[in-house]
Amino acid sequence: MFRRWTRPDAADQVEVDRIVTAWGNACSGAGVCRMVQTVSGTTEVLPKVTYLVLGPPTRITVKLPTGLLPRDIEAASDRLAPHLGCYGLRVESRGLGAFAVVELLRSDPLAEIIPFRPGPMTGPILIGHDETGQEVAIDPGDLPHMAIQGSTRSGKSVFCYGFLSQLAQRDDVRIAGVDASGLLLRPFPNDRFRVVGLKNPIQVEQTLAGLVSEMDRRITAIPFDRDTLETGPDNPLIVCVLEEYPGTLRALDAFDPKGAKKVRLYVARLLAESRKAGIVVVMIAQRCEAQIIGSAERAQMAGRISFRVDTADSVKLLHPDAPDSLAVEHTNAPPGIGLLTLPGRSLSRVRAPFLPYAGYVKAVGQAGPQRDAA
Ligand SMILES: Nc1ncnc2c1ncn2[C@@H]1O[C@H](COP(=O)(O)OP(=O)(O)OP(=O)(O)O)[C@@H](O)[C@H]1O
Ligand SMILES: [Mg+2]
Repeated sequence: MFRRWTRPDAADQVEVDRIVTAWGNACSGAGVCRMVQTVSGTTEVLPKVTYLVLGPPTRITVKLPTGLLPRDIEAASDRLAPHLGCYGLRVESRGLGAFAVVELLRSDPLAEIIPFRPGPMTGPILIGHDETGQEVAIDPGDLPHMAIQGSTRSGKSVFCYGFLSQLAQRDDVRIAGVDASGLLLRPFPNDRFRVVGLKNPIQVEQTLAGLVSEMDRRITAIPFDRDTLETGPDNPLIVCVLEEYPGTLRALDAFDPKGAKKVRLYVARLLAESRKAGIVVVMIAQRCEAQIIGSAERAQMAGRISFRVDTADSVKLLHPDAPDSLAVEHTNAPPGIGLLTLPGRSLSRVRAPFLPYAGYVKAVGQAGPQRDAA
């Protein structure tokens, strides 16, 4: 076995031996191994440490027995970490999956507040940091319709500040939507696809009708040999933010039930048909109940983030696959920590970057392209 450590002295040698022994015992105990039949009986083949760098961060490279994948180690990381005396493991695949590099995490990366750093004007948008401290980011072109839920003061708005201020920097994105609270979309200049405040509730219906016509126009404009519309500066991705959507519906129901019905219909059409036309809906609610937002509508939102909610059942409204223990634990999540579901990504906990409102207003104010959107 080849081992290396950064400061070779006797104490380090003891630590290396401890980790290698603990790794073997942990894998054996957690069943992270392959059972192989040999002439002398069944033998346990463990992922073998081939390289070790003492940290922090301590990293071990292991060779995986045939049939074992890096994600098998990842799946068992909760059971492996305590044996190794660490909080968690970050696992990366190497050598086409024949090896895994395992980093021993000393503390919960989600415990620390992560200040928002303005990102580049192109490339993926940062959603947050996951339990292994890795950035979770998504290209705006791949954004699914999104549902964001959380009780009051759970971190929905702060998440949106970071999210929208990144989108605002781009000339191929236009921020639209309905914001009854008036705070979230207020920093943006006027736009015919945007309603800020509910002084004139008719505007909500008119604006969403306008977005639906834009969607229809775009669908007709999809080239004959394509099934989606390409977005770019001339045809920006429209991100339609529906801030506290159930609250908006309640207000409209009280004011003009017929108009509210139309609003529900427009939102349903946008969710069902607009993604191929370069329009994304981001719906924010304290609780994404099917009776209020519609179950077919909720099903169309493949991107889901739940900040702290009141009950485990509320967690399951958006993440039916969440284990019961995680759902219960999440009812006590600190502000800014969300459960995230994205297409092609298993359920994970993330911490949203922290951007105060003043920073958000400043970032949007400095963004050039959105200024010309009206
Ligand atoms: N990512 C974060 N990191 C650290 N602290 C956060 C984060 N997000 C939110 N907080 C803290 O929680 C407070 C409430 O957050 P926020 O205003 O986003 O909640 P909200 O879910 O939008 O609540 P409401 O439903 O009342 O609008 C913030 O003022 C901030 O102190
Ligand atoms: Mg809020």
